Amino acid sequence: WAIYAPYVKAIQEMKAKRNAVILGHNYMTPEIFHGVSDFVGDSLQLAMEATEVEADVIVQAGVHFMAETSKILSPDKIVLMPDMGAGCSLAESITAEGIEDMRAKYPGAPVVSYVNTTAEVKAASDICCTSSNAVQIVDAMESDTVIMTPDQFLAQNVANQSKKKVVFWEGSCIVHELYTADDLRAYRELDPEVKIIAHPECTPDVVAESDFTGSTSGIIKWVHDNKPAKAMLVTECSMASNIADELPEVEFAKPCNMCPYMKKISLEKILYVLHTMENQVEVDAAIAEKARQSVQAMIDLSK
Ligand code: 13P
Ligand code: SF4
Repeated sequence: WAIYAPYVKAIQEMKAKRNAVILGHNYMTPEIFHGVSDFVGDSLQLAMEATEVEADVIVQAGVHFMAETSKILSPDKIVLMPDMGAGCSLAESITAEGIEDMRAKYPGAPVVSYVNTTAEVKAASDICCTSSNAVQIVDAMESDTVIMTPDQFLAQNVANQSKKKVVFWEGSCIVHELYTADDLRAYRELDPEVKIIAHPECTPDVVAESDFTGSTSGIIKWVHDNKPAKAMLVTECSMASNIADELPEVEFAKPCNMCPYMKKISLEKILYVLHTMENQVEVDAAIAEKARQSVQAMIDLSK
């Protein structure tokens, strides 16, 4: 921690000077998560927080689609991305044309798009969802058939819990698709005591092998509530690092997989954008208005 202290101090000073807040995703490394973030959470919590923060500047310690969501919900605020290259394999897998192709294939079916999408894709969709409310949103659609984009595995996991027929785009998360049910079974054989907790971006086979599935904040809450002797978090590596200190009674089993996009965010880059005010996220006004309707419809259904 000593090596981070000068950055943390400088960032706190710059935050006060700019009247800025830092919204940190649960996948941020501990020095960002605990050291400088004003709010931490999953995608839904960060989106909701963006509608409520009283600040002139939001620094999004997360990936680009999260910063766009904040800008869409808070158009009058300056939203800064510490690294514009922090993308997401899901967001990159689909464009607005892809949404139109799905509509042509399944006429009349509503499009539920994961928030891990660009503003253009959100604007072309009927409503958004996150990992914490996807089943609720899909079930709330009037039609019997629902189009889900862009995560094929989230869609299949939702279909397993929903009455709806779910058709989907074939995107995937490069972090969660790496886990296999065989690996988890092998792990459980070695260590029968372990509780396996997976994110719903994992394949349905992996979810079936797990003791609990939830959003990143859902996973953190489950471990806090249940305090298993051993836990394997089938998600991004920083999750266990961020909660290990608060839960000394829980032994966190490895392996984990790193998100190369989330890991582009560092204290140095946060300080740099606060100093220079570079990397301001902009969304075309007409697209932002349509995208806001999709995100707001989700927030309204999630309350
Ligand atoms: P959460 O909404 O669960 O935080 O997920 C975001 C994400 O990108 C997971 O890979
Ligand atoms: Fe995207 Fe996967 Fe990284 Fe989440 S973990 S930001 S879904 S690539």
